Amino acid sequence: MQIFRSRPPGHPCRTSARRSRLHASLAAVLCAALCWLPAAAQAERPQPPVVDTSTLPPIAPGWADSNPLRGNAAAIELGRNAFNQACARCHGVDADGSRSPAPDLRRIGGLCNRVKDASLKQRCIEDSDYFFRYSVLNGKIKLGYEHMPPWEGIIDAPVLWSIRSFVESMRRPPQRQEAK
Ligand code: HEC
Repeated sequence: MQIFRSRPPGHPCRTSARRSRLHASLAAVLCAALCWLPAAAQAERPQPPVVDTSTLPPIAPGWADSNPLRGNAAAIELGRNAFNQACARCHGVDADGSRSPAPDLRRIGGLCNRVKDASLKQRCIEDSDYFFRYSVLNGKIKLGYEHMPPWEGIIDAPVLWSIRSFVESMRRPPQRQEAK
């Protein structure tokens, strides 16, 4: 403070009272903008996909360990519709994630098909189903930046498992999948 006061009038580092008031108000505006922007970005919540789940076979309430709608034709069809409404803008239309900014979802659990032991294979499938469900419900938020919004409360179990069934149905043939 002593050094600051000793600067002669007109010195570029000598801040006049008026200038420091100006700086203070600029800082306040900047801070308000910086504080407001993330809040506004967070406020925009994703919309639930509009689908008719009455076409699906009934499933037990709550979250099953593994996808109860795996391979079901109605679920795959509904899943495609829901996926293209809610997920395609980041993961690619019809889950063709190869040219999208977000990961290719078709590969999740793909390697389970190579497991020979039946109970180990089942655990592998359950693990990848859990990863899929956990990722979707919690979203991907890293260092405060939202890479993917959380879908908890927006997408329910029948719709989430239908999306999973659809994504799996879009996997490439096994030999190309394994080569990856
Ligand atoms: C706003 C863009 C965006 C939307 C919309 C979106 N995602 Fe994502 N998703 C991402 C990004 C980016 C990642 C990778 C985040 C990371 O790990 O850094 C991701 C990761 C995932 C993962 C984990 C994949 C992995 O290999 O780590 C799953 C599963 C997933 N998303 C499913 C979905 C589903 C299902 C939907 C639709 C209901 C959806 N996402 C909608 C951007 C999005």
